[in-house]
Amino acid sequence: MSVISTSASAANDVATEAARRRTFAVISHPDAGKSTITEALALHARAINSAGAVHGKGDRRGVVSDWMAMEQQRGISITSAALQFTYRDVVINLVDTPGHADFSEDTYRVLTAVDCAVMLLDAAKGLEPQTLKLFEVCRHRRVPVITFINKWDRPGLEALELLDEVEQRIGLRCTPLTWPVGVAGQFHGVADQRTGEMVAFTRTPGGATAVIEEELPADAAAARYGEDWVRAVEELDLLTATGAVHDSAAFVAAATTPVLFGAAVTNAGVRQLLDVLVDTAPAPAARPDTTGSPRPLDAPFSGFVFKTQANMNPAHRDQVAFVRVCSGRFERGMVVTHAGTGRPFATKYAQQVFGRDRDTIDEAFPGDVVGLVNATALGIGDSLYAAGPAVTFPPLPSFAPEHFVAIRATDSSKFKRFRRGIEQLDGEGVVQVLRSDRRGEQSPVLAAVGPMQFEVATHRLAAEFGVPTAIDHLPYTLARRTDAASAAALNAAPGVEVMTRVRDGELLALFPDKWRLSTVRNRDPDLVLEPLLADAQ
Ligand code: G4P
Repeated sequence: MSVISTSASAANDVATEAARRRTFAVISHPDAGKSTITEALALHARAINSAGAVHGKGDRRGVVSDWMAMEQQRGISITSAALQFTYRDVVINLVDTPGHADFSEDTYRVLTAVDCAVMLLDAAKGLEPQTLKLFEVCRHRRVPVITFINKWDRPGLEALELLDEVEQRIGLRCTPLTWPVGVAGQFHGVADQRTGEMVAFTRTPGGATAVIEEELPADAAAARYGEDWVRAVEELDLLTATGAVHDSAAFVAAATTPVLFGAAVTNAGVRQLLDVLVDTAPAPAARPDTTGSPRPLDAPFSGFVFKTQANMNPAHRDQVAFVRVCSGRFERGMVVTHAGTGRPFATKYAQQVFGRDRDTIDEAFPGDVVGLVNATALGIGDSLYAAGPAVTFPPLPSFAPEHFVAIRATDSSKFKRFRRGIEQLDGEGVVQVLRSDRRGEQSPVLAAVGPMQFEVATHRLAAEFGVPTAIDHLPYTLARRTDAASAAALNAAPGVEVMTRVRDGELLALFPDKWRLSTVRNRDPDLVLEPLLADAQ
């Protein structure tokens, strides 16, 4: 047993609790049905009483949040949090990935806190840009991916065509676990690859939305659905013959993706997805710290902050830090150590946050997400631990920015405060800060994955540091990592600018678009121009 393990029975407890956790996120492009499937999953697990209670779009639009003024104006939540529910005695943590207008670096960072991802594809659209970018992060982190092809109740592409697209474009081997009976738009049910039987979906009479499931042996399915059943079986057989068979080890190693078909809006296929999460998705595993050695699950509490949310409650200055528990049992009220400063941090206010709901939580285990309130001292990537030797988890990666602005204080007498504020926002990971030789110190450049990060930055500079600012949008959409030897030639190319990322000292070459990048590269193939993480261009 590890020297830093807690007592034998407590350790057993932690191991058992960790083994019954599944922590995942949905990666998708806007409108593929993420909100709908989130509701359907929770509804299926009976965590909520009626669909629409989680955060359906209609619901989201009408809500007046009492958090940030900016949220109120926009009518959207910029909070990422976790929905927790129990299914078949397994605790499922669905960590929300902000999307739509609030797509930002936080969206990518969520993927550092999960053990698995569900890639949700619209049957009519296949792989879309945002899904590809999120997938790149999963690939980089070796997060196993389950594919759910949604909206099969609507006309769409052919099932084989969709699988082919995934294999060709992202090189992930598809191993279907269910196969649709009926083309997209005529969804009778799914054939279960493992049992050879059919699960038929029938719309409920009287306008209720969830389908009724009926299990049919193969001969009954053939009698009822004729050609559609025969075709489904033939296609599945074809795939099986080419080796497209689910293998747990290959999936957990992120080499293959189990595929399921469904229609979240009617709950069709959602139970099958939950079953795959329970039966196949990995439970939390020991996570390596900066020394490279995995921190045992049954070691005392440790975790890291993957997101912070400032000023959620305007009544008092408040910051919630979302922590992914990596080891041990977290108990509300315990005093933990902040690895960065060595200072104690009291966890009196620990919450589970989802949408606008906050519930106090008293304990949590590996895989769970805890929202720590009054956490102004905690920044993104910070590690916390409860006892024994210090534990530091590796820093979170920086992601490819696509939006760039030059920022300055409109009142030059406030420059010192401005500089402090910019440093703070950079440290917290709110934005990436770049410095360019062409621009003075007075006007740093902010880089972001989504433009809302700039709104958060300017809002916080004004509200917390008392510095009104002005921003000028810069005409760049693409960054590549370069080196000092290439910088001079790149700076001489029209429309290109090289800047230093303050956080890690990386040199980034900024381009207006991918065409400019390819012209520059074609002219001088020796230039160092490496893609950044989650760059799908
Ligand atoms: P998002 O969070 O990924 O952006 O997507 P969201 O769940 O909001 O779904 C986008 C639209 O797709 C919604 O329609 C939703 O009802 C619809 N949708 C989701 N899953 C399915 C499905 O399985 N089948 C069909 N046919 N539609 C689906 P909307 O018209 O934008 O909104 P609403 O008025 O229907 O809520």
